[in-house]
Amino acid sequence: MEEKKVEGTLSRVDPFQLPIFLYNDAINNEQCEALVKLCEKQEYISSVNASEEVAKMWTGISKDKTLLHGIPDMKQHFELLIQDISTQLLKQVTQGFEIKSSWTTKTEKGQTSKMHMHKNYYLSAILYLQDDNEIILQCPWWDKGNFLFPIYEQTPYTCNSSMIHPPKNSLLIMPSWMLHEIPEWKKEEDRYSIAMNIHPVGEYGTDTSYIEIPSKVTLQTESNRWNNKEGG
Ligand SMILES: [Fe+2]
Repeated sequence: MEEKKVEGTLSRVDPFQLPIFLYNDAINNEQCEALVKLCEKQEYISSVNASEEVAKMWTGISKDKTLLHGIPDMKQHFELLIQDISTQLLKQVTQGFEIKSSWTTKTEKGQTSKMHMHKNYYLSAILYLQDDNEIILQCPWWDKGNFLFPIYEQTPYTCNSSMIHPPKNSLLIMPSWMLHEIPEWKKEEDRYSIAMNIHPVGEYGTDTSYIEIPSKVTLQTESNRWNNKEGG
């Protein structure tokens, strides 16, 4: 008996996507160099609340949590980028975004960060200043799946977490609720990055969800650290 062949086509239905973006060449090498210097001169505290012995195993974060406020044109550049993403890709009606907190991270050889998220914010972004960066993102719906099969190859359908390799000078943007961690840093040189939290400003929402968040005007001053060749 002749075998019957079904010649259909299979396509992936993909109605829901996460707003995770990588903006390459967000800064140039000269800006990057100035920012690394800025990172190097920060005062760092441990990202975990623990004894000194334990705390030194983990990534450090700068004491300054409004770092980009000192580089207003760069801060504004990223805020406008988020507004562009909101308008052009997410097709949202939004009046603007503001980076309300920003800090540097320092990871020494052998250190790692805990899996964490950034509470109280809409989007978070990380600016990368070196090569060989790695960040692990945890799949947000992993806990919703009840089945676990052996796999012969890792795919986005079955992985619990995924390692991203953002290149030098790139900005990784993701929802603030996305769990992420810095895996163990294996290079001799310290790893630096600049993290920022972004909040929508202006008026948004309707009826009972209406909210108005006043926007602070970013002042351009002559003492603007970013335009200063010293790099701040
Ligand atoms: Fe983080």
